[in-house]
Amino acid sequence: MSRATITVDRDFTVGPVPRRLFGSFVEHMGRCVYTGIYEPGHPEADENGYRNDVLALVNELGVSVVRYPGGNFVSGYNWEDGVGPVDQRPRRLDGAWHTVETNAFGLHEFAGWAKKANVEIMEAVNLGTRGVEAARELVEYANHPGGTYLSDLRKKNGAADPFDIKLWCLGNEMDGPWQIGHKTADEYGRLAQEAGKAMRLIDPSIELVACGSSNRGMPTFGAWEQTVLGHTYDVVDYVSLHAYYEEKDGDYASFLASGVDMDLFIEGVIATADAVRAKGKHSKHINLSFDEWNVWYATAREGDDMPATIEARGGWNVHPRIIEDHYNVTDAVVVGTLLNSLLRHGDRVAIANQAQLVNVIAPILSEENGPAWRQSIFWPFARMSELARGEILRLSTTSDRFETAKYGDADVVDASATWDEENGKVALFLANRGLDDSAEIAVNLRGFDAGRIARAELLTVPEGADRFATNEQNEQDRLGLTPLTDVAVDGGTLRATLPALSWAVVELEVAKA
Ligand code: AHR
Repeated sequence: MSRATITVDRDFTVGPVPRRLFGSFVEHMGRCVYTGIYEPGHPEADENGYRNDVLALVNELGVSVVRYPGGNFVSGYNWEDGVGPVDQRPRRLDGAWHTVETNAFGLHEFAGWAKKANVEIMEAVNLGTRGVEAARELVEYANHPGGTYLSDLRKKNGAADPFDIKLWCLGNEMDGPWQIGHKTADEYGRLAQEAGKAMRLIDPSIELVACGSSNRGMPTFGAWEQTVLGHTYDVVDYVSLHAYYEEKDGDYASFLASGVDMDLFIEGVIATADAVRAKGKHSKHINLSFDEWNVWYATAREGDDMPATIEARGGWNVHPRIIEDHYNVTDAVVVGTLLNSLLRHGDRVAIANQAQLVNVIAPILSEENGPAWRQSIFWPFARMSELARGEILRLSTTSDRFETAKYGDADVVDASATWDEENGKVALFLANRGLDDSAEIAVNLRGFDAGRIARAELLTVPEGADRFATNEQNEQDRLGLTPLTDVAVDGGTLRATLPALSWAVVELEVAKA
């Protein structure tokens, strides 16, 4: 049995929960768009081809903002190819994912879907093969009310009202040698500065995200942010972070401690952004947009999903299956801890997008002409999006530790918490990263009079399954939430026992003490 003690205090808060932390990502990649969110002719599709079964799950997931259209895809994309009459749109080769893009789905289709899904759009511009002109023209096309060539073209193409997109990414992963149009930090910083300036001249109300590092292990990490923000500080509002984690070579301990890497990454970027602020005598803060994060079994990339040559992939195909990871309980526990890390840093991480939404490393799977269902990682996201309301509470945690090869010792129990004064509830998000032992957790609630436990749910390996079990088309609900029974409040302390390898949420009614 492991043990952990967590103390929260009503007066010690991090800040309000940013709703944009519960973002997702739709890229023109594999089957995320085609046969994911969009499949004309599917029995569940509406008159626009949007799959209602997938939309229902997106709604249940509680997604607030969706980044689009890439990803690596955007760095070779002409946004103009995706607007206008569908039968006149060009078919193009997408070099990023080695597929044929039909352009049957583009900005108008995405905006219509986003409206139906009730999510904010986060649009990325191509700073790989294109630049200032295409970026500012896209802002004019999307956001200008009318009376100019581009805004009237939007109207002619069926959208009388502007899309009014507030959030814009200045390119994608421009630090990565794999990126089409990859640049040095100086090259990218200057381009982002000028593109951002030109975009703001068209619509001053937009918010801009500069590309940061593609992960903390990039050789340019730190120096990249420093140089890019040196050029763009006055123009942008956010700097991006991307990170994917996987269980590699049987090192499950390091994998379970992935949240430690995320904490270090976030804190490193805050430190760098604040150093640029101090050096440049700027008053504003640059906040963080963690606009790609998830578990991704990238080592399989060269194997099943992405064979190295185009011939081995069977040539150029339309929406092939690419990186369709099927997630187990360990993955869900890690996703829960990554969400904890994002929430604990909610004073500086203003936006976060789990990558991606459907089929491609996603919480939702769908089959062409078939069903859509939830993966294990669906649950921590859905519950946190639903229940993390009000203020983020600062935690003081003392936990038993476990050893990892990558990060040294890490806490067995990982947590985050919020307090919503309006509905009078504290929500606790707890993970037991121990593979073998259950964890006894005591949460001291200072400044609160604890009342009834309103909800207590658990995700763990079900009876008769092993930790590699997943939800599949023929067994869609194998991994899901069950009641957490071993939980009670006693005076000012909540006590819970979490089984080995589990994630849990407890919602508690409270009054101010
Ligand atoms: O989400 C999959 C890919 O991961 C994105 O296209 C890219 O930005 C990242 O490397």
